[in-house]
Amino acid sequence: MKNIAIFASGNGSNFEKIMENIEVGYLDHIHVTGLYTDQQDAFAIERARRFRLPVHVFNMKRYDNKEHYETAILKQLHRDKVEWLVLAGYMKLVGPTLLNAYADQIINIHPSILPSFPGKNAVGQALRYGCRVSGATVHYVDSGMDTGKIIDQMSCPIYPDDTEETLQLRIQNLEYELYPRVIKTIIS
Ligand code: GAR
Repeated sequence: MKNIAIFASGNGSNFEKIMENIEVGYLDHIHVTGLYTDQQDAFAIERARRFRLPVHVFNMKRYDNKEHYETAILKQLHRDKVEWLVLAGYMKLVGPTLLNAYADQIINIHPSILPSFPGKNAVGQALRYGCRVSGATVHYVDSGMDTGKIIDQMSCPIYPDDTEETLQLRIQNLEYELYPRVIKTIIS
């Protein structure tokens, strides 16, 4: 068994898909020790409750700086003997404290074909540029914004009548397939 922690800041649908893949046995070697979130009203927390999963809320405003914030997270990760960090809509840059403790063992999913459109609102950016294809990327996390080494990608078309909502839905459906597949192969 591999102990992983899932980090999410908002909706948490990727988190839920990972949990479902564990339940059906596709990720039978993965144990999620808990949901880690920086947002106390994240919908991901509701989802975690449905799986009776421990939730750890770390509000960065309660700490003097990012180092103290991440040191608190790190203590909990060590308590839970976590081996990998899986970021699923965690909207903060990971700082040196966590990067040093989990070198090459932090992965993230992003809704674009990186290195195009890192950062926030990648879906809207692809639409505004008039791109004809987009997709999703899973990559290792480094100190930059969505800049780490790419592990795997999936692509989809962008249609002329797409809105942010329709394109986001298409990309998220890719993510639900891509992330469990990467977790299965990388975390073993
Ligand atoms: C996902 O589409 C993920 O790729 C994106 O946030 C969404 C979270 O959705 N992450 C980023 O943009 C990171 N830069 P979810 O909370 O429903 O899983």
